[in-house]
Amino acid sequence: MHDIIQQLADKRGAACLGGGQKRIDSQHAKGKLSARERIELLLDAGSFEEWDMFKEHRCADFGMAEQQVPGDGVVTGYGTINGRLIFVFSQDFTVFGGSLSEAHAEKICKLMDHAMKVGAPLIGLNDSGGARIQEGVASLGGYADIFQRNMLASGVIPQISLIMGPCAGGAVYSPAMTDFIFMVKDSSYMFVTGPEVVKTVTHEEVSAEELGGATSHTSRSGVADLAFENDVEALMMMRRFVGFLPSNNRVKPPQWPAQDPADRLDHSLDTLVPDHPNKPYDIKELILKIVDDGDFFELQPDYAKNIVIGFGRMDGSPIGIVANQPLVMAGCLDIKSSTKAARFVRFCDAFNIPVVTFVDVPGFMPGTAQEYGGIIKHGAKLLYAYAECTVPKITVITRKAYGGAYDVMSSKHLRGDVNFAWPSAEIAVMGPKGAVEIIFREEKGNPEKLAEREAEYKAKFANPFVAGARGFIDDVIMPNETRKRICRSLAMLRDKQLENPWRKHGNIPL
Ligand code: HXC
Repeated sequence: MHDIIQQLADKRGAACLGGGQKRIDSQHAKGKLSARERIELLLDAGSFEEWDMFKEHRCADFGMAEQQVPGDGVVTGYGTINGRLIFVFSQDFTVFGGSLSEAHAEKICKLMDHAMKVGAPLIGLNDSGGARIQEGVASLGGYADIFQRNMLASGVIPQISLIMGPCAGGAVYSPAMTDFIFMVKDSSYMFVTGPEVVKTVTHEEVSAEELGGATSHTSRSGVADLAFENDVEALMMMRRFVGFLPSNNRVKPPQWPAQDPADRLDHSLDTLVPDHPNKPYDIKELILKIVDDGDFFELQPDYAKNIVIGFGRMDGSPIGIVANQPLVMAGCLDIKSSTKAARFVRFCDAFNIPVVTFVDVPGFMPGTAQEYGGIIKHGAKLLYAYAECTVPKITVITRKAYGGAYDVMSSKHLRGDVNFAWPSAEIAVMGPKGAVEIIFREEKGNPEKLAEREAEYKAKFANPFVAGARGFIDDVIMPNETRKRICRSLAMLRDKQLENPWRKHGNIPL
């Protein structure tokens, strides 16, 4: 018995040491934490329950039989974040570069199966050189087993990927199938093919950082949702982030005790929208002033800045916020902003998170770049996402709601539950100038007459009352009472029941 206990202690010691102190030091020298240090910071102190610490790879080629590290390069298990159950795997770069063997994949799959069974989120801390080269196809199979589970878990439990080191080749596709990707600046990168292959195939010279670093993916490709300065900040932000999410698709998101009064008025909002219709203002000011305690977790802040998405809370309950941003491209909808918001709306819908939409949109972005890029198909994604969404939907039109974009942005016609407008709202087919230039084309040579027509059009349509008269707007509210009215609406909608017709799945325009 004593021998076994000694063996257990030895094996645990070996597992904890991973690829050895030298490699751990080298990880630290790169500004990275070790796999276990990361888990310790992520989870509540002492809550981690580890599985498969003794799992080993089964590869005998290339001298691998003699190289065994208990745990095989990934630490897996579960614990809690603020008392809530979370499953986590953390790849250990010190063991064969965190590369994925068949056994390593089995550990992750076991975790995913359990997370699904009990309905708890899965967080993956990725730091890996990709497929374990010595294992060949066995490793590729392991990846595919994970991909399959990523799909099955999609919309059932929240899946979050934190990229904390290399993530290359097909390995990027597991994070890509999860709900959110977060990266660490300067120490993580993601690409399908690395700089060497890029150089050979396309003759482009590009560094790993430029090709797939955090800045590239949070501002150019939109692959990642946010980038953090270092491991510690990333892990702390994950703790904050999961507080907005429900554990699974059958439960509501967690309610937190609210300190901020639900009926709080904010009179500064009455002057937020400038008098001149083309003068921009920052929609984030409105968001920060209406959510509980100004706590807004913005996603993709550097990508498609003409639309703002993120999580906040109203009277203690999480909500998803989508808002046109008049500061950027006048808040126009284009390809990137449509896909950005569509994916977010679908996440909220899958996980019972009400969607609050702030509208100030002059329409879809015109031009060949957009048309050739497929704005029709991509804009339809947002339309589809709002139309299929059955969670509570509250819409506030702050200024412009023109054309197709009016329809798209959670309008009454797409089953918006409560649709408010501020007195400054203008709901019309298009802006006054464009409208009169089309309907009164014959008066083009007469600027005075056109100006008269424009004023007439403005007086008739540039207000919320035409839509109000048809019931497309439930009420015109003062900006200062926006929080109060949204909180009341959310309370009214708490037990909303709405189902789409049965089908295998819809066919969103991908
Ligand atoms: C086995 C690997 C490995 C791998 C790294 N190592 N990647 N072992 N399989 N894929 C080992 C190294 O041999 C080394 O071992 C240790 O990990 C650290 O690697 P270094 O190269 O010293 O570290 P660094 O300089 O930081 O470079 C990291 C790296 C590089 C950029 C990730 O190691 C690299 O390019 N690795 C290969 C990446 C790759 O091509 N992977 C396959 C992608 S294809 P020692 O003993 O010296 O410490 C793929 C297909 C998936 O993933 C398909 C899914 C559908």
